[in-house]
Amino acid sequence: MKATLYEGNKTFAVVEKENETPAAGEVRIKVAYCGVCGTDVHIYHGMMDQRVNIPQIIGHEMSGTVDAIGEGVTGFEVGEKVTVRPLDNRLEAESDKGFGHIAKKLKFIGIDSPGAMQQYWNVPAFTLHKLNQTTDLKLAALVEPLAVACHDVRRGRLLQGETAVVLGGGPIGLLVAMVAKSKGANVVISEVNDIRIKMAEDMGFEVVNPVKTDLVAYIEEKTNGGLADVVFEVAGVQPSLDVMTEVAGIRGRIVMVAIHGEKKPVDLFKFFWKELELIGARVYEGEDYEESIDLITKNELPFETLITAVEPLDNIQQLFEQIDTNPNGMKYLVDCQ
Ligand SMILES: NC(=O)c1ccc[n+]([C@@H]2O[C@H](COP(=O)([O-])OP(=O)(O)OC[C@H]3O[C@@H](n4cnc5c(N)ncnc54)[C@H](O)[C@@H]3O)[C@@H](O)[C@H]2O)c1
Ligand SMILES: [Zn+2]
Repeated sequence: MKATLYEGNKTFAVVEKENETPAAGEVRIKVAYCGVCGTDVHIYHGMMDQRVNIPQIIGHEMSGTVDAIGEGVTGFEVGEKVTVRPLDNRLEAESDKGFGHIAKKLKFIGIDSPGAMQQYWNVPAFTLHKLNQTTDLKLAALVEPLAVACHDVRRGRLLQGETAVVLGGGPIGLLVAMVAKSKGANVVISEVNDIRIKMAEDMGFEVVNPVKTDLVAYIEEKTNGGLADVVFEVAGVQPSLDVMTEVAGIRGRIVMVAIHGEKKPVDLFKFFWKELELIGARVYEGEDYEESIDLITKNELPFETLITAVEPLDNIQQLFEQIDTNPNGMKYLVDCQ
């Protein structure tokens, strides 16, 4: 079988590897598609060389079918369509209070252990979620990032009829906007990149470019002064942190989706003045995966539009180079067969 290896120094290799029998408690998956996550791009750029075990197979946004079943595993049949929730919480402790998805000793499969950018992948059976047998496996590679969005919207307690402002219209921001819209919220996306603005508009979203239009005044007018009920910070930049506390209305909830690597200033006075809430959101829980699978199976949202390109495993090096040179692209998939 073929596998890809991140070798450090912006280099991938495509290698022949033995197709291993799944160990007890594991399932072997014939990987159909694996999406490239922002994290995979960080790994490619060498920013996570301390954490990954070079040379390493990466990738965690995948879909596939059950290919072989290890000892002791029940409830799965060969040929069934599945996806993996890549969280290994086997070291979860009582002090993690039941929140295995953010447990102190959580391991992320595809970063801390081998990932899905190969033809066959052995994973612990507890990470599997069944797909509907009619589910399109290409779209199912979006289940993982869509589950992030489902989690974000759930953490924000967004209700039908509320106004949601999504700061940043990248892949995650667009998915958050889609889930928010599916809940019956009035959604406005704030995005600065013209190509991404056009894309979001083509998907039917109301989009504001905060460099050209005063976002706060725009939302104020739209809501008769009430401003946003929920703000999703999905841009990860200081201007977005500056505007999030302005654009949130009284008792507004701000969901922190973006990963901020360093400490940054935030207007804490606004939390006092408007009784704002700041809500952290990290990955997903089982119920977010199930909701995401349901949305992908129904396929009533513009998921297909998010897929910029699909490349075979053999072209992994060119694929990552292409992602580097085209910052406007959204989701790139690897066809693992
Ligand atoms: N919480 C989690 O578990 C989780 C999971 C996945 C990703 N993330 C994080 O979510 C964030 C978004 O991910 P992504 O893949 O969509 O990233 P991305 O970089 O593709 O998207 C960010 C978008 O914000 C836009 N932007 C930049 N400045 C802006 C501004 N001032 N106002 C409005 N928009 C602006 C950019 O043009 C870009 O389109 C990242 O920080 C990522 O690390 C978090
Ligand atoms: Zn991801």
